[in-house]
Amino acid sequence: METRSAVSKDGLVGQLEEARERTRLLLEPVSEEDLAVQHDPVMSPLIWDYGHIGNYEELWLLQKAHGKVLSRRELYDMYDASLHPREERPSLNLLGREDADLYLNAVRKAVLETLQDADLNADDPLLKDGFVYNMILQHEAQHNETMLQTLQLKRSQGYSPEARIQLPKAATTGDEMIPVPGGEFIMGTDDHTVALDNERNTHVLHLPGFLIDVTPVTNEAYARFVEDGGYERQNLWDPDGWRYIKQEYITGPKHWYQPEPHSWWTERFGFDEPLNPAAPVVHVSWYEADAFARWNGKRLPTEAEWEKAASWDPEAGVKRLYPWGDDAPTPAHANLDQLAFSVAEAGAYLKGASAYGVLGMIGDVWEWTASDFHAYPGFEAFPYREYSEVFFGPGYKVLRGGSWATRPSAIRNTFRNWDYPIRRQLFCGFRCAK
Ligand code: AVJ
Ligand code: FE
Repeated sequence: METRSAVSKDGLVGQLEEARERTRLLLEPVSEEDLAVQHDPVMSPLIWDYGHIGNYEELWLLQKAHGKVLSRRELYDMYDASLHPREERPSLNLLGREDADLYLNAVRKAVLETLQDADLNADDPLLKDGFVYNMILQHEAQHNETMLQTLQLKRSQGYSPEARIQLPKAATTGDEMIPVPGGEFIMGTDDHTVALDNERNTHVLHLPGFLIDVTPVTNEAYARFVEDGGYERQNLWDPDGWRYIKQEYITGPKHWYQPEPHSWWTERFGFDEPLNPAAPVVHVSWYEADAFARWNGKRLPTEAEWEKAASWDPEAGVKRLYPWGDDAPTPAHANLDQLAFSVAEAGAYLKGASAYGVLGMIGDVWEWTASDFHAYPGFEAFPYREYSEVFFGPGYKVLRGGSWATRPSAIRNTFRNWDYPIRRQLFCGFRCAK
């Protein structure tokens, strides 16, 4: 991978402003009431995310990086994700939209002042090369995606944001599997400027050869599994997954319904629409992805297989930052950055192909992998244990590649996301391996 260009303060200022503009654009069409209530037990009230974005910025860019404190202790406590589980968040005395606007503005003003004197070449690992600023940009982007998950779960009046971009159509159909020959590749990264702690360190892995789907699994393929009785055949399911779907009466992906036989519709941000058979399936749990793969005579790729297929250039023997290379994502490479408010068709981005020719690895849907979330060799929690370390263990499955709702600053080949295997609120799909 190329080394990243030296950090520029003007660049950071521009990125911080742009991040805030996006947060406000997403929340602008939402009513006061819809900001304040909890729309789903697994999500926070939107106004909590908004205040938390500001408080996390205060905590890291003012207090930790520069020893500067603006707010009283109670405000920190209110927005500390590890102090208040989601069910408590609606009953906190959260700042309303106007007060939160003022708070975020005050934090930002102080941040821009301290940035002027900040030494980004210092040995302090927080400041060095602007790491902590990049962490804060990614955090705001991550909560933007969380907010979109909440808006997708909202039952009251639909969310109809104004911005839209046009998505390309499929350029190829996706039944093919791509061979990735056995051999060594480099997993993870040693980058300390943008990468988060769980992506480090690099380590050489030797994987046996495998096949991986050229695109994520489509709605059409998934509907065949449903119509073939996939949700009634216990032998296809992990025992915990079987118990879960029977307990919860789950008979298909979240938000799917059938107005008449063989016609599948979905609800997207509160509006009904026919499912596009060519688009990747979204809002399936790890258990559903795992059962589909078994039905299809395949399996989920491990995290290492996914990363090799996405990042390794076998001819050059180098690792790429994105599947297509080290160039920053554009709308020609992948469906990222939210403004489509939807997935594109699978196989729509030929320019986004990895060195092996695998398509759609970044963007559209997060992809479940077979792997539990664990530390890499040499892992050190940085800058705080609650980002990754407290989640390591067998309870969480890793997802890769980001979705249409992921901002480009918060995704790369080495980025690791994780959630419980029952969860479907993420914009998550999968592809299979063999
Ligand atoms: C990495 C997406 C699992 O949303 O819980 C946000 C990111 N960490 N605030 C999450 C995060 C702190 C995290 N995920
Ligand atoms: Fe957070």
